[in-house]
Amino acid sequence: MTTLTAVSYSETDIERLTDHAGRVGLIVDDGGKLDVAGRRVNRLCKGALKRALDARVEAGLKEGDSLTLAYPAGMAAEAIDVVCLTRGASEIAARHAGAVLGQKRGTADLLLAVGSARRAGFVVQGAVLRDYGFNDHKTSPAKEPGAIEVMANDAPKLETETAPLLAVADGTFMTRDLVNEPANILTTTEFADRLAEMSALGLKVEVLEEAELEQLGMRTLLAVGQGSASPSKVVVMQWNGGADGDAPLALVGKGVVFDTGGISLKPAGGMEDMTMDMGGAGTVAGVMRALALRKAKANVVGLVGLVENMPSGTAIRPGDVVKSMKGDTVEILNTDAEGRLVLCDVMWYAQERFEPAGMIDLATLTGAIIIGLGHENAGVFSNDDVLCNAFLKAAGAEAEGAWRMPLGQAYDDMLKSPIADMKNIGGRPAGSITAAQYLQRFVKDGVPWIHLDIAGVASLKSATKLAPKGATGWGVRALDRLVSDMFEKG
Ligand code: BES
Ligand code: MN
Ligand code: ZN
Repeated sequence: MTTLTAVSYSETDIERLTDHAGRVGLIVDDGGKLDVAGRRVNRLCKGALKRALDARVEAGLKEGDSLTLAYPAGMAAEAIDVVCLTRGASEIAARHAGAVLGQKRGTADLLLAVGSARRAGFVVQGAVLRDYGFNDHKTSPAKEPGAIEVMANDAPKLETETAPLLAVADGTFMTRDLVNEPANILTTTEFADRLAEMSALGLKVEVLEEAELEQLGMRTLLAVGQGSASPSKVVVMQWNGGADGDAPLALVGKGVVFDTGGISLKPAGGMEDMTMDMGGAGTVAGVMRALALRKAKANVVGLVGLVENMPSGTAIRPGDVVKSMKGDTVEILNTDAEGRLVLCDVMWYAQERFEPAGMIDLATLTGAIIIGLGHENAGVFSNDDVLCNAFLKAAGAEAEGAWRMPLGQAYDDMLKSPIADMKNIGGRPAGSITAAQYLQRFVKDGVPWIHLDIAGVASLKSATKLAPKGATGWGVRALDRLVSDMFEKG
């Protein structure tokens, strides 16, 4: 990830501005007004900056607009990148402005962030988030992770404001790396190993292997993985930054490292996209990483079910009946509706072991949610208005699309099976809702719960403001914010 150094802005820095050989980033308001740093740059380049800006203001300069002056006279800089941000700009706008600069990054950036340290922090976070690339499998990497130097009014204050925002960016990068990783590399074992490495950050990480899962009775989870050569695993990550004995928030993630559909095989076209079917688990991992890096004062436990859904001689068949850890039996009519079979056991285990104050599961669960909400919003399902509204507020503040969907008895009835306690599919109508209803059968009375169906938002075919195409890291920021809004004290 991009590294950051902050230096305090002072009159003696004129050489630094003159001699900087990379790109120089600047912020102006919508009137094209330069701040003190901008005025200084303008003097160095003999008014070229102001002339270019005046022309843009004439044409109408809006928040987020940018302009670039290549090889400005009087400076060693490769370019000056200017982005427009209004005075009372929101955190979201500041982050987006930073992302505009991040996208233009050279090898050595200098950002002139005069103004409030908090606003500068979001600009920096935006620059870092947008400057992500997944280059691990290019033999000659497109670019090395960069370094940003920020010149601010008060460097120590900027560092304090920015540190938690960079922790969240770092967590987001972990999620993106996991989601982008192909399935021959990110096996269940490799996934568990990467999570275990996070114990170095102060997380308590346990990997439960198949024999233990068998003993616990996680038969529906094991059923999904039984056709694969990769062993099924559940990984438990505990962050205990809160008061001793405070019930934790539990985050539960679907980690299907590849979803072929199993014997109910998916069509070939686009099947490669199912490398992202561990997006829920990837998000849980990224949030846990962010919480540990910023030493959140809260108790949060992350649990992921890691399996691979393959067709083989040992795979489950349509029509098989399997008993869940809870004890309820499930008639598996479609082996491609596997995510819920994984989640129900991990959710049950999370509640039995941790008696959480709340539980949030994340899963690339249904294609139907993409039909309903496209790629703009994740589907939000909940049994608790307080927790749900707090989440929607956090997601809104982070500009991560989230839209609440209904639950109800009539949908639950669609899961009735003639031979078992339930079926694992409810038919074509309301496919995302019946999937959520299935999960709700494994939520204990009194446990506030949210299910997030992230099939449409975890990975995209085109770039967004904050991410190149591919994994987005959706939800890491919203969940981190929810933890600080609702679960952190002091
Ligand atoms: N992993 C898929 C859902 C999915 C689809 C994620 C597209 C990302 C993009 C899930 O396991 C699945 O196959 N769901 C089925 C459920 C059906 C068989 C009831 C679906 O959506 O078709
Ligand atoms: Mn599936
Ligand atoms: Zn799946």
